[in-house]
Amino acid sequence: MNPGAAASPEPAGDASSGAAATAAAAPDLALDDAPCGLFVLDDRGRVLAVNRTLAAALDYAPHELAGQALDFVLPLAGRVFLQTHVLPLLRVEGRVDELFLALRTRAGAELPCLLNGVRVGAGAAARYRCATFTIRRRGEYEQQLLWARRQAEQSLRLTEELLSLARQRQAELEGFASRTRALAQRVEELRDAEQANVARSLHEGIAQELAALRWGIDALRGAVSGTDDARQLASLADLAQRSLAQVRSLSYEVRPPALDHAGLGAALAKLAQDVAERSGLAVEALPAGPLPKLAPRPALVLYRFAQEALGNALDHSGATAITVECGVRGDEVYVRVHDDGRGLAPEMLERTSGLGLLGASERLRALGGRLDIVPSPRGADVVGWLPVASAAT
Ligand SMILES: Nc1ncnc2c1ncn2[C@@H]1O[C@H](COP(=O)(O)OP(=O)(O)OP(=O)(O)O)[C@@H](O)[C@H]1O
Ligand SMILES: [Mg+2]
Repeated sequence: MNPGAAASPEPAGDASSGAAATAAAAPDLALDDAPCGLFVLDDRGRVLAVNRTLAAALDYAPHELAGQALDFVLPLAGRVFLQTHVLPLLRVEGRVDELFLALRTRAGAELPCLLNGVRVGAGAAARYRCATFTIRRRGEYEQQLLWARRQAEQSLRLTEELLSLARQRQAELEGFASRTRALAQRVEELRDAEQANVARSLHEGIAQELAALRWGIDALRGAVSGTDDARQLASLADLAQRSLAQVRSLSYEVRPPALDHAGLGAALAKLAQDVAERSGLAVEALPAGPLPKLAPRPALVLYRFAQEALGNALDHSGATAITVECGVRGDEVYVRVHDDGRGLAPEMLERTSGLGLLGASERLRALGGRLDIVPSPRGADVVGWLPVASAAT
C-alpha cells in the first residue's frame, strides 16, 4: 500500500492486487490529515488503507498498517468484538454507528474510539469504509461533568440544610416573638389594673379627703373672720384647693374617669379640649357617631392611641389644626387623628426610633386591631382600629 495515498484510494480488489489501483488513485491529503481516523477494511477484516491521522494516533506509519489484519491494532476483547459484532453488522446492515472500540497503540496503550462504518459492494468484494473518533477528551469532559454534578449536588444539599436551619430559626424566633407579645400584653393588663386602682384611690380617697379638708377650713374661717387666724386659714384653704385640682388632674391622667362613665367619645372630646387649652391650637373632636359600649381595656387602648397621635401632632407636625374622630366602620371601631402639618409617610412606622406609634400599634394588635398611617395630601392622618366583636362589652 502506498503510504502517501493511504486514505482516499480504495483498492478495487484485495491488498495484494491493489497496488496498481492504489498507485492510480490520486492521493487526497485533506482526508489523510482529516481530524478523525479513516481506514478501509476488506471482508476479512484486513486494512486496505489507513489515513495518517489514525496511523499517527497509534504511533505507526500508514504503510506499517496497510495490509495488516485490523486485529494487529486491537486488544483481545476488540478482536472478538470485531468478529462477532462489527463485521457481521457491516455485512448484514451495511453500516455501524457509534460503536465503542478500543484500539491499541504501538506501545500497547489503549486508545478509546467511536467507530462509524459503511459497506460498499457485497460478498467477498465488499469494502468497509470506516471512521474513528478518539474519545479520550470526551472521557475527561465526562469526568469534569461528573465532578461538577457532584459539586452541584453537594451545594444543593448544603443549601437545603441551610434553608431548613433558617426555617427552624425563624420558627424559634416566631415562638419567641409571640411569647414576648403575650408577656407584654399581660404586663399592659396588670398596668391597666394598677392604674385603675391608683386612679380610684386618688379620685375617691385623697380627692374626697382634700375636699373635706377644704370645707372644714372654710367653716373655721367663718368662725374666726377678721382675725389673723382667718387670713392664715384662707391661705390654707387655697393650698387645699390647689392640691385638690392637682390630684384630680393626676387621677384623670392615670385613667380618665369619663372613659368608664361617659364612654370613649366623651373622653376624647375632653382630651381634645384639654390639648386645645394647653397648646392654643384648634383641636376639634368631631361629633362621634353612635359607638358600642366598649370594654375597659379596648377603650383605654384607643384613648391612649389618640393621646399619642395628638402628642405627636403637637411635637412633630407644626400643625395649626387637629381633628379627632371616632366611630364605627364595617365591623371595626376606629379613632382617627388628622392634622394639617408637614405630613407623615406610611413607612415611618418601620423606620422610626421612637416608641410612641410602635407601642400604640402593638397594643392595638394585641387586641386584634391595627394602626394605619393613611397617605394624605395634606398633613398626617393616623387611624387606630379594633374589631367591634372583641372591643365591645
Ligand atoms: N403628626 C405627625 N406629623 C409629622 N411627623 C410625625 C407625626 N407623628 C409622628 N411623626 C414622625 O414619626 C416619628 C415617630 O413617632 P413616634 O411617636 O413613634 O416617636 P416619637 O414621637 O419620636 O417618640 P416617642 O413617642 O417615643 O416619645 C416621629 O419622630 C416624627 O418624626
Ligand atoms: Mg410620639
